[in-house]
Amino acid sequence: MTHILKTQNFIVVALTFCFLSCKSSVAQTASPSTTSYEQKVDSLMNLMTLQEKVGQTVMYSGSGAVTGPTVNKNFRTYIKDAEVGAMLNVYSAKATRDLQKLAVEETRLGIPLLFGYDVIHGFRTIFPINLGLAASWDLEDIEKGTRIAAEEASAVGIHWTFAPMVDIARDPRWGRISEGAGEDVYLGSKIAKAYVHGFQGDDLSKDNTILACAKHFVGYGAAQAGRDYHTVNMGHDELRNVYLPPFKAAVDAGVETFMTAFNELNGVPATANKFIFRDILRDEWNFKGFVVTDYTAINELIPHGFAKDQKHATKLAIEAGIDQDMMSSANRLHLADLVNEGEVDVALVNDACRRILLTKYKLGLFDDPYKYCNEQREKEVIYKPEFLEAARQSAAMCSVLLKNDEKVLPLDKNQTIALIGPLAKDKENIIGNWAAAGDRRGKAISVHQGIQEYLNDSKIIFSKGCDIEGDDESDFQNAINAAKGADKVVMVMGEDYDMSGEAACRTNIKLPGRQTDLIKAIRKAVPDKKIILVLMNGRPLDLSEEDMLADAILETWFPGTSGGYGVADVLFGKYNPSAKLPVTFPRTLGQVPIYYNMKNTGRPIPANNPKDDYKSNYLDSPNTPLYPFGHGLSYTNFEYSDVTLSANTIGFSDTLSASATITNTGDYDGYEVVQLYVHDKVGSITRPVKELKGFEKIFLKKGESKTVSFDITVEDLKFYNAEMKFDVEPGEFEIAIKGTSDFDFGQTFTLE
Ligand code: BGC
Repeated sequence: MTHILKTQNFIVVALTFCFLSCKSSVAQTASPSTTSYEQKVDSLMNLMTLQEKVGQTVMYSGSGAVTGPTVNKNFRTYIKDAEVGAMLNVYSAKATRDLQKLAVEETRLGIPLLFGYDVIHGFRTIFPINLGLAASWDLEDIEKGTRIAAEEASAVGIHWTFAPMVDIARDPRWGRISEGAGEDVYLGSKIAKAYVHGFQGDDLSKDNTILACAKHFVGYGAAQAGRDYHTVNMGHDELRNVYLPPFKAAVDAGVETFMTAFNELNGVPATANKFIFRDILRDEWNFKGFVVTDYTAINELIPHGFAKDQKHATKLAIEAGIDQDMMSSANRLHLADLVNEGEVDVALVNDACRRILLTKYKLGLFDDPYKYCNEQREKEVIYKPEFLEAARQSAAMCSVLLKNDEKVLPLDKNQTIALIGPLAKDKENIIGNWAAAGDRRGKAISVHQGIQEYLNDSKIIFSKGCDIEGDDESDFQNAINAAKGADKVVMVMGEDYDMSGEAACRTNIKLPGRQTDLIKAIRKAVPDKKIILVLMNGRPLDLSEEDMLADAILETWFPGTSGGYGVADVLFGKYNPSAKLPVTFPRTLGQVPIYYNMKNTGRPIPANNPKDDYKSNYLDSPNTPLYPFGHGLSYTNFEYSDVTLSANTIGFSDTLSASATITNTGDYDGYEVVQLYVHDKVGSITRPVKELKGFEKIFLKKGESKTVSFDITVEDLKFYNAEMKFDVEPGEFEIAIKGTSDFDFGQTFTLE
């Protein structure tokens, strides 16, 4: 036995050496074809036992971060036993090299591990949270920030990020709304592409590109009552026309991996859902990469009430088309037995293993399994000054000016400000949730520090005033005194960073604790002083009271490592705000879900009589939100002319050009996000009252005008119809080009 094993080992070592050297020569050619990798995978798989193949479908978490409810400390043993294909939550060049060595030097075939991590909005240099990034509507900036995240992550041994999260989210109770691009299909799809390109670049074999992962497939953002992991029921119209498109966009952008959602979809948990993984992802979309489960999601098929035990769950997941098991131990414990017992077709294991190995080849890990574990690069790359500067710019670009009565902003450098609030000096929350390896202590720049770049300390009167949560009012008087001694009051308030993110849902979306009471107390004490509210939060909040109390409101989300600088740049007018909401802010939680591209209903409220009887309205609130999707003010004004159309009627092969002239009529140069909306008036499936179909961010000097044109073809007007075919239907369409989604259409064109 020993002899046979030794002989085998020798053959394997020789063959592995051959793979490695063959692979080296392949890597020298400009762009190795997938076919040549496939041949290599086939040769390697010919040498693999069933158990080794199963090993590739297994992922364990290290202890570098905790991102799920269970841990398994035996991963080193499993790696040595060739029972692990990937690890998560391990980073640093040293830690990844250490584990990689186990896989490469101590297993029979030396197949390298993949290292995955949640690099969501930056790795060490943290950018604004993703909902904030979406508010920039700046695809170049998002891609640039993502590239920086990939540069930093790849320098510490990470090959793979579990991002982007492309779940459409329309319920602010749901904590993970912070992690996506908001409510809109079009914007979300464009942003999905920008992330994929940012992470993966144009060549995966480079040592600074990492695999992206489109997650969570699918419907996770539609959890009932905004409660995480909760049930999802949705019809085909909503699934096809709203929730699937950003995932399709990620596939079109070449995303290499997908992650399952925790939720069930129409009675079938996503992690065992053949319809979404086999029928849609593989068969319809032709996705060639591999699918990983979410954390322990195979085991969760049992409490879902879908699998009777772990073995059953293992079978259901692999049959649904799931390739890798994150943290359930299900594949490791049962998959080989299921095959040996004839319960699972070995072809399914082969397919999963093949896809995972192919990805490892594409990354170049068979050339050099340690290529990402470079301590020198790690030292040089992390927190490069240009990265921190880019994060500062992003923070400014992502801050949405919700309100600015009487032009109270920008601040005047000659005036004294009272700087009040629990987040004014904060460095812990400012980088937000899912902040990867971001530093919550030393590195982040607080708003106070940012303001110090503009005002010397004698002009800043600080008082914390209250905590984020809790009932303590003991510092209210200090805050009131500060307000009395200043020309203007800047209050920095919001949520704790862990009040959004995973398993962080709220049934109350107002400012927590006594923060609103403090604003009221100050308003009362200094009724004539201007109050500027600077917000940090991971979801749309109910700001109806604050809207009445404050003169200006700046939504900065959680703006990241250089956040304080970026926010101060906006407050003092160095950056003229240009961000627009990627998600609707309701007047009250009772309106949720509320989003701009709703359906009209058979009894819409008349514009001139919103209280009309027997209409789709509320007794105690208007239907309209507090701040609509697409809203965001600037320090200047932009005037829009009516849309000019190249034709009033178009045929199916025509291109319609729609243009509008935008003029900067105010006193500051600035960027404006110009938005194109269309309404398909009649459909075999009812169409939303408005749909974003294009946008462009333009820069206009004061007094300057620009004409922005959008080309519209039938491709832009297609949707999944009553037969669930992606098609266009002739008829009349309304069209507008505006700076917000809050407008009435006035122009039409016809497709015939
Ligand atoms: C989250 C995923 C994440 C994974 C790994 C899960 O709990 O839902 O989004 O990628 O953990 O950390």
